[in-house]
Amino acid sequence: MLQDVLIAPSILAADQLDLRQEIESIATADYVHFDVMDGAFVPNLTFGPGLLAQIKEATELPVDAHLMINDPDRRVQAYLDAGADIVCFHYEAQIHALRTISLIKEHGAKAGIAINPGTPVAMLESVIDDLDLVLIMSVNPGFGGQAFIQNTYRKLRQLRRLCADHRVAPIVEVDGGISAANAERVVNAGANMLVAGSSVFNAGDRAAAIADIRRAANRGFGGRC
Ligand code: DX5
Ligand code: ZN
Repeated sequence: MLQDVLIAPSILAADQLDLRQEIESIATADYVHFDVMDGAFVPNLTFGPGLLAQIKEATELPVDAHLMINDPDRRVQAYLDAGADIVCFHYEAQIHALRTISLIKEHGAKAGIAINPGTPVAMLESVIDDLDLVLIMSVNPGFGGQAFIQNTYRKLRQLRRLCADHRVAPIVEVDGGISAANAERVVNAGANMLVAGSSVFNAGDRAAAIADIRRAANRGFGGRC
């Protein structure tokens, strides 16, 4: 079982005109969280595989690609080729989940499925055995800086039960509205990977912001047993 909580700052909240330095400023994190939005599955439009490949050149940190796009089955290959270490697509957007999961794993990346706040955890029942990671969205995807949805705690506990029933232990990632103020409770409910956009990049000292979230998160981890 994973002993430490993973922190993944979302570069959606970074200064896009200064991305190289922004990524250097989060060197103490565990992953770079890379939000791909297509202007269709979500109303916003962001990055593509070309930028991901450049980021892989610029940092030692692994990249966690969160694909908020329609038809990920057809687009996943480009992100694998760009070097994504985690490829996570949305349950709501795909048709052939198990085929896409296999494709991701064949390329040596970790395969994840994300669910929106309005999607029940039970929808993961038939794919949970095959997943390296589950991403529980704690905001409606599309924008940074939104408020954490409280029902996420209940969904995390439901996911823990589902994983226990299946005797699997995927990484459990939570994304949206995470800060040092709620990290302990989120981890206590079952998360072990936290995405943090504004709470890291709006801070003057990013290393200190990451350390604060990590400290709170690890407290939640201890409190779980
Ligand atoms: C939302 C994105 C998040 C976002 C989180 O659609 O998936 O990764 O960047 O930003 P904060 O931490 O500001 O809620
Ligand atoms: Zn995200």
